[in-house]
Amino acid sequence: MRLNGQIALITGGATGIGRTTAIRFAKEGAKVIVTDINEAGANETAAQIKANGGEAIAFRHDVSNEDNWKQIVEDAVKAYGTIDILFNNAGIYVIKPLFETSVDEWNRMLSINVTGVFLGMKHVIPVMAKQKKGSVINASSIAGLTGAPGHTMYGASKGAVRIMTKDAAMEFATLGVRVNSIHPGYINTAMVEYASETTKQSKEQLGQAVSPMGHVGSTEDVSNLVLFLASDESSYITGAEHVIDGGATA
Ligand code: NAI
Repeated sequence: MRLNGQIALITGGATGIGRTTAIRFAKEGAKVIVTDINEAGANETAAQIKANGGEAIAFRHDVSNEDNWKQIVEDAVKAYGTIDILFNNAGIYVIKPLFETSVDEWNRMLSINVTGVFLGMKHVIPVMAKQKKGSVINASSIAGLTGAPGHTMYGASKGAVRIMTKDAAMEFATLGVRVNSIHPGYINTAMVEYASETTKQSKEQLGQAVSPMGHVGSTEDVSNLVLFLASDESSYITGAEHVIDGGATA
């Protein structure tokens, strides 16, 4: 097992990439702290892990709220002793023309997608630093690497995550903490349903439009990458951006 005895905290673990990764981590021997603003969904992910003989706890968590982070990190350490892996995965996706974007919408996007990642690193890395070992994986996007119409707000948030990852990797390398970002293209979750509705293209059309492979990716595809970055197999990789987009940005 590739994560035997490791303790992993995954935000946004109620659905999509977060849920698949939580279940995958548990199968690889990790004890998983599943958090999400959708408490019922987080509980369901933890229940699925336990039903398969794994170990998990779930918390309601708004990643933009610092008090929530403090409490969850404290409770997680009380329950499991430490945190070895942090997957800052929670995020929201809104496609909107720049002229129609309100300051409230802009601030909400940044508070979840950027402040959420900042607070995760702020409160979890000190726990990792104590044991001189940890792996942080931050969910960016290909929208953090390339431009697209209607993506100013989301792209700004994911571009920020890309560079925050590199800054943190530099800051914490000597403490044994690695920090990497992942940059998925379209992955088959609620976010692709939303993109499909907004752009009036079917999932199949979106997959053909964005990827030379002709289809969108699966949450399992992404969890394979996150697992690699979480595990010691990637022990010499930090500050790196990992694109997983079926060739969309090649
Ligand atoms: P999803 O919508 O299925 O899952 C996102 C999860 O984040 C949900 O469970 C939601 O409840 C949770 N969440 C939202 N706001 C929150 C908050 N304030 N506090 C805590 N949890 C919150 O989306 P998906 O596709 O699984 O996305 C996961 C990550 O991957 C996101 O950061 C997303 O931006 C990124 N991503 C997804 C892509 C895709 O095509 N699906 C492409 C590129 C990046």
